[in-house]
Amino acid sequence: MSYIDTTTAGNMSMATLNPNVAPQQSRWHVFATVGELEDAAIAHILAAAHEAIATRGAFHLVLAGGTTPRYVYEALRAEQADWRNWHIYFGDERCLPPQHPERNSRMATVAWLAHVPIPAAQIHAIPAELGAEEAAQAYAETLKNVPHFDLVLLGLGEDGHTASLFPMQEWERAISWPPVLPVHDAPKPPPDRVSLSPDRLSASRATLFLISGTAKADAVRDWRDGVAIPASRVSAQGQVDIYLDSEVAREAGMN
Ligand code: 6PG
Repeated sequence: MSYIDTTTAGNMSMATLNPNVAPQQSRWHVFATVGELEDAAIAHILAAAHEAIATRGAFHLVLAGGTTPRYVYEALRAEQADWRNWHIYFGDERCLPPQHPERNSRMATVAWLAHVPIPAAQIHAIPAELGAEEAAQAYAETLKNVPHFDLVLLGLGEDGHTASLFPMQEWERAISWPPVLPVHDAPKPPPDRVSLSPDRLSASRATLFLISGTAKADAVRDWRDGVAIPASRVSAQGQVDIYLDSEVAREAGMN
């Protein structure tokens, strides 16, 4: 694993544009294979959980959607952890029925959550089946109980989106947001979604991006060149770690 430490300069411009957005301090980690990236992600998550539970008695983790984290979730089911003190949230959700195979909560449940003894009352799915506006309001109420997450997992889309914060959409024209946003006309189906806002995703002690696949190389290159892609708007109060496999890093001109 090679390791590059950098502050993404582009966020400095975001900070001047919007004083509410702290410059993102990002640590970029390049792994030879996707397997190594996934193993490192599992270790990172377990270490964050151990520290949070030892220090504060609970671990508040936000899950990423999409396909990249699936293996990480599947591998977590075999791990020994203090599951009774884990609290699970979602960074975004698709407005589909709860058991729909394309729901992010369904993917995480089948891959991991149904196989470990995290109390059901501590797994907080976004009720996206209610529709984007009603679900966003309901989830904002849920999040009032957790002012700071311990770790937020996020993916990256080819267009630089993260969670369901897509470029060229209404949220980008605002400088403050409610904690949870209804999303319509998403370019990645389904069009109706619910997403935590940049600020709410940033209300975390740490953030970990998991990025694999050369299709994301342009977004990674823009990010490192200081272009204010949606992913660069997430600035954890602690550390933003970005895990990439060597193929996407190479395509993005990193090594
Ligand atoms: C979603 C995700 C989305 C995802 C990226 C990357 O609901 O689709 O929240 O933000 O993380 O699109 O998706 P892949 O991991 O499938 O490439």
